[in-house]
Amino acid sequence: MSNKSGQIIGLGLESSCDETSASIVIDGRKIISNRIYSQVELHCEYSGVVPEIASRAHLEKINNLIEMALDDGKFKFSDLDYVAATNRPGLIGSLLIALQSAKAISFALNIPLIAVNHLEAHLYAPFLEGNEPAYPFIGLLVSGGNTALYRVNGPGEMILIGKTVDDAVGEAFDKVSKYIGLGYPGGPLVENLAKESRLKKVFFPKILTDPDDTRFSYSGLKTAVINYIKQNPGQEKSEIVYSFQERALELLVRRLFTAARKSGIKKMLVAGGVAANGRLRELIETERKNYEEVLIPSPLMCTDNAAMIAGISYQYYIRNIFDSFATDVSPKP
Ligand code: KG4
Repeated sequence: MSNKSGQIIGLGLESSCDETSASIVIDGRKIISNRIYSQVELHCEYSGVVPEIASRAHLEKINNLIEMALDDGKFKFSDLDYVAATNRPGLIGSLLIALQSAKAISFALNIPLIAVNHLEAHLYAPFLEGNEPAYPFIGLLVSGGNTALYRVNGPGEMILIGKTVDDAVGEAFDKVSKYIGLGYPGGPLVENLAKESRLKKVFFPKILTDPDDTRFSYSGLKTAVINYIKQNPGQEKSEIVYSFQERALELLVRRLFTAARKSGIKKMLVAGGVAANGRLRELIETERKNYEEVLIPSPLMCTDNAAMIAGISYQYYIRNIFDSFATDVSPKP
């Protein structure tokens, strides 16, 4: 049942890490508002997210963001059909802010509460940019906290193919960036520095080359980079990060296409912060060939945002899958 003739209006909330976001999405496709407050400046001086600072900032910002999101569409609370929030994975203190806010709104308005897996929401992002959700697909999730490959059969049906055994790929970008003294978040800074590389003299070995292996691993590459810098202080940093980036991304592309070919599934989707990397997009395009489809969200939709939360939740809403007030947060997916 919708509040407005035929339209389902959802409010999504996100606070799992260092972005606070509130979004209004209609029918799981049309973004009316996607308000995002990034805490990057608050965490910059620590070169990483400080959980206590993050949860306090979420608490300070969330009410205002919700009001702005409603205002953007000239909506009132009473127009909402459901309210959704990320409840996993993430920082516990941070996750609680969006989930508790969603519970309060659900209780006050007597509308369904939907609690979603942040990783599944990332993999929904391309569907908010003009593509119809089509299952099954192979989904590669690449962010600061996760590197994992799934076969996604439908909403709530994510079958893990392989994940990192140590660092996430974004974390490796951040740590290399920190070691070199570039700053935080490291991904875009490393990508930009790598573009200056001209000589391509540094070569780090390929990671986990067995084609039957579905795992990812980044701590060895990160350590190799740090050791190389210690032993070769005169080497151009751009040469070093170029080779680091090539090896880090090459593993992602290899695993993605191997999974697609082995499963016979032609539709692939890449999402999460690292999917904003231009070189990754180039490598995928080169490997893609004409017959394979790879959806990657626009760089804005690669980062944490609440539109993807409201979007995937619509898929649950139309299936009458709701959550109770007993639903809790979890650091794990
Ligand atoms: O998905 P996301 O916004 O947040 C979570 O981790 O949940 O991803 C952030 C990660 C950071 O590690 C950041 O360095 C990385 O994505 N990142 C990139 C790029 N832009 C962001 N990594 C490589 N290249 C980029 N252009």
